[in-house]
Amino acid sequence: MTPEQVTLVQQSFQLVLPIKDQAAALFYGRLFETDPTTQPLFARTDMAAQGGKLMAAIALVVNNLANPAAILPVAQDMAKRHVGYGVTRAQYGSVGAALLWTLGQGLGAAFTPEVEAAWTAAYTLLAGVMTEAAYG
Ligand code: HEM
Repeated sequence: MTPEQVTLVQQSFQLVLPIKDQAAALFYGRLFETDPTTQPLFARTDMAAQGGKLMAAIALVVNNLANPAAILPVAQDMAKRHVGYGVTRAQYGSVGAALLWTLGQGLGAAFTPEVEAAWTAAYTLLAGVMTEAAYG
């Protein structure tokens, strides 16, 4: 990621934070609609709590984008736990698409092509690290 892309992701995430609960609900709704294989994995999950965990994890990644090595072990451990939840490699693609769609909904006109490209780069980086740690 370029330094400009890191700034774009960090700035646009600040705009989503005030509506993070709605954004999380929108995200899971979209994910379950576009990839129904994901819904059964959350059958016994408190989705309000899960939304909070997801946003906290995204915030951690966003805040450390300039130095991804700092959170590499955290991302790798998280990915290994996800194998235990039954998550597949393909589902990382579904999550990425739902995340970008949610950002588009939440940011509106602020979701410029540059912002979209920056978030795509950030998610690709994270998903690459996680799927490599989980599935090789
Ligand atoms: C790529 C970025 C992702 C992030 C940042 C993320 C974040 C999190 C976090 C923070 C948790 C809480 C438990 C833990 O830390 O182990 C969690 C749990 C979970 N995630 Fe993810 N996740 C990601 C990808 C995925 C994908 C691709 C799926 C597939 C559908 C998924 C499904 C789940 C499930 C089923 C749980 C357990 C729910 C429960 O405890 O009942 N996650 N995720």
